[in-house]
Amino acid sequence: YQLAKRRHRFHVREADKNDQIEHILGKFKLSKECLHKVMELLLDEMYKGLDPATHDKADVKMFPTYVRSLPDGTEKGDILALDLGGTNFRVLLINLDSGDIKVKSKVFLIPQSIMTGTGIQLFDHIAKCLAGFMNAEKLIQNNREYPLGFTFSFPCHQKGLASAILANWTKGFDCSGVVGNDVVAMLQEAIERRGDIKVKVLALVNDTVGTLMASAYNDQNTRIGLILGTGSNACYVENLDHVKTWDGDRNDPKQVIINMEWGAFGDNGCLNFLRTDYDIEVDKTSLNPTRQIYEKMMSGMYMGEIVRLIILDLWEKELLFVGHRDHSWSTDYRQALYTKGSFYTKYVSEIETDSGVTYRHTKSVLEQMGLDRPTYDDCVIVQYVCKLVSRRAAQLAAAGLAVLLNHINAPNVTIAVDGSLYRFHPKFKKNMEKAMQMLVHPHIRYQIVLSTDGSGIGAALSAVTAPDYKDYKTN
Ligand code: GLC
Repeated sequence: YQLAKRRHRFHVREADKNDQIEHILGKFKLSKECLHKVMELLLDEMYKGLDPATHDKADVKMFPTYVRSLPDGTEKGDILALDLGGTNFRVLLINLDSGDIKVKSKVFLIPQSIMTGTGIQLFDHIAKCLAGFMNAEKLIQNNREYPLGFTFSFPCHQKGLASAILANWTKGFDCSGVVGNDVVAMLQEAIERRGDIKVKVLALVNDTVGTLMASAYNDQNTRIGLILGTGSNACYVENLDHVKTWDGDRNDPKQVIINMEWGAFGDNGCLNFLRTDYDIEVDKTSLNPTRQIYEKMMSGMYMGEIVRLIILDLWEKELLFVGHRDHSWSTDYRQALYTKGSFYTKYVSEIETDSGVTYRHTKSVLEQMGLDRPTYDDCVIVQYVCKLVSRRAAQLAAAGLAVLLNHINAPNVTIAVDGSLYRFHPKFKKNMEKAMQMLVHPHIRYQIVLSTDGSGIGAALSAVTAPDYKDYKTN
């Protein structure tokens, strides 16, 4: 009888613990109604961004990009590209030969000190990496001038294909003296300052635009570019009639790619109804508090941190790692859980690959962090936390895409996606598609394709479609 009583008490405690966890995490489960509300709000914000009367105050800026024609697969040439703004900075040499694309690339590190130093230091560093790459690829000896496409993944007010004023920094960058200036000119000046390479910057594109362009090279139905990486953003091909802010000519093709900068959706507080205390905390301690609210709920730069804060909270409430408070290794626990950024987003992907009962990856991640000897229950809970956080991200991205697909309202649309989160998370795509099925009008057919290397190749393609490009065809 005693044993039965003890067992009963144990089950009640466990059930109670689960209820508490469910209660704490309840807000991460988004209902269909909630996602519909997000969609309505986003559409509203999009119209505000496209209208000159409301543009200045709008959060979702809907920047026209000056990219109006999509590649058709016949483009040719050797073009350099730079890709700045994600996890890595890359220099690429792209050889286009009617449908065939060859890419050579090299990844360079941008030290933290440069990410938050001065703009001049940043562009000098970029030009130095470019020169190093050109040297290694023997592109300097022949004295030929190379065209370059620049993928610069930050919000820019474009004045033309090769003129872009930085509106504000996002993600981990905050270099002084760049906001309000033309980043194409700053890069060109840094190249000239060196004097050892001959390069002309012909086009600047956002990574979403590059991704769309790269996919359009093979698939003419591509209408949307999406990035789910360090940050999150989307672009799409918009009918010029809808773009009241457009100040260029209105001749054919009557379309332009719009860089939405949807990461800033919610900056005016409209998404507060679904934000959790963890989201609020992540925002407060970020480089750009009160900005990029939607992005902070779903991109790679913040996902691991949301998970860390939840785990820490569950630990403090004695719902997780319960056996490890008084042990000698509790100091390690404290250190791991209280250190900002200690839970990498790649851990979320690793943990969610566990499907069996061994929780091999989950255990290994926790141990790497210094959270030694987790129990089976600890692993179950940690994986559940990761699942809820990443699924919410996928559903929020799905709501954004559904708005675009319903708005474009074409019968068959290809969505080109790139970004580390989307690529490496084992369930992101599936969760996103599941939510989209619920939200997209049933008559619309769409397919989601991974656009590998898209942002770099896309920049090269934008350079090729630039009006100035003809000067390079002969040399
Ligand atoms: C941030 C940037 C945006 C970029 C996105 C993905 O949201 O502001 O320009 O496209 O990250 O890299």
